[in-house]
Amino acid sequence: MDPQEALRTLEEELERALGLIAQVRTLDELESVQVSVLGKKSRYTQVQRSLGQLSEQARKDVGRRANEIRSRLDAAFEERRSGLVKEAERALIAADRVDVTLPGRRGRAGSLHPLTIVEYEIVDAFIAMGYRVVEGPEIETDWYNFTALNIPPDHPARTMKDSLYVDIPGMLLRTETSAVQIHAMESQQPPVYVVAPGRVFRRETPDATHSPVFHQIEGLAVDEGITFSDLKGTLEAFARGMFGEEQRVRLVPSYFPFVEPGAEIDVSCFRCGGSGCGLCGNGWIEILGAGMVHPAVLENVGYDAERYTGFAFGLGIERVAMLRYDIPDIRLFYEGEVRFLSQFGRAT
Ligand code: PHE
Repeated sequence: MDPQEALRTLEEELERALGLIAQVRTLDELESVQVSVLGKKSRYTQVQRSLGQLSEQARKDVGRRANEIRSRLDAAFEERRSGLVKEAERALIAADRVDVTLPGRRGRAGSLHPLTIVEYEIVDAFIAMGYRVVEGPEIETDWYNFTALNIPPDHPARTMKDSLYVDIPGMLLRTETSAVQIHAMESQQPPVYVVAPGRVFRRETPDATHSPVFHQIEGLAVDEGITFSDLKGTLEAFARGMFGEEQRVRLVPSYFPFVEPGAEIDVSCFRCGGSGCGLCGNGWIEILGAGMVHPAVLENVGYDAERYTGFAFGLGIERVAMLRYDIPDIRLFYEGEVRFLSQFGRAT
């Protein structure tokens, strides 16, 4: 190769390379351009190899130009490479971009069961009055469910509620949360102020107002000097808090073996305000059973019945929820139908 041809080749290659570099779109393409312009088989390398055959002066001239061109090309390749890397990064970021201002897709949130809402409200009302929450077992012995509650084996009250027995002799599904009274008193000395929410079981054929499984809240207060007016005041305060300040409350004599005297507490009907309607009949709705704890019950747990007195009450959660939300059929509570359940507010 003569010097003229060598110089021409170098200029051509520079021109060609700059054109190609400007066109490449990817790092891979740039790589192959680099190989074709500067690789072992490139015309640039051929020129360099031929330098040895040139005269000294020509070698200097061509060599210098070859070096200049090499630096320009190196710079051009490098510039394009970093440009492509930046572009690739930008593309990646753009592809990964998340618009944090877009409204999120919300999963369907559950809500509290209406029985749970009512239970929490009732329990909260008593916690505010200084009561503590306790729980008892759903399978009970005869002692806790009956005998300790002043219902001995031959007592006629045993047939008042049809019990569900289990395969273990002497044990049954508790028929009322009153059984928890006994556990609570056994585990501590007075003063006792407890509420006990829970499930109870009775042999009932399900219909609009009966279910073999339902829920009660038991209340128990035992202390020195507790009187019937404490019971009345407490339940009136509760009923007004729960159903509204305007509520009238009345106590009607009633019978439960574990209280004496016993009473049923009625609130004035919130549908008709007390004048009488299809819901209440005579203007009153019974919401709970109550009474002064029978001295025999206090003695059964080893309390001094001369020194201590107390009151107890038991309330059906379903009943309160049905009245509160105007629910016509108790079975709706247990069907797990979302269209029913979703009407009662969100979980908090
Ligand atoms: N345990 C009674 C019932 O289920 C309610 C009650 C509780 C009555 C406490 C008096 C005292 O009907």
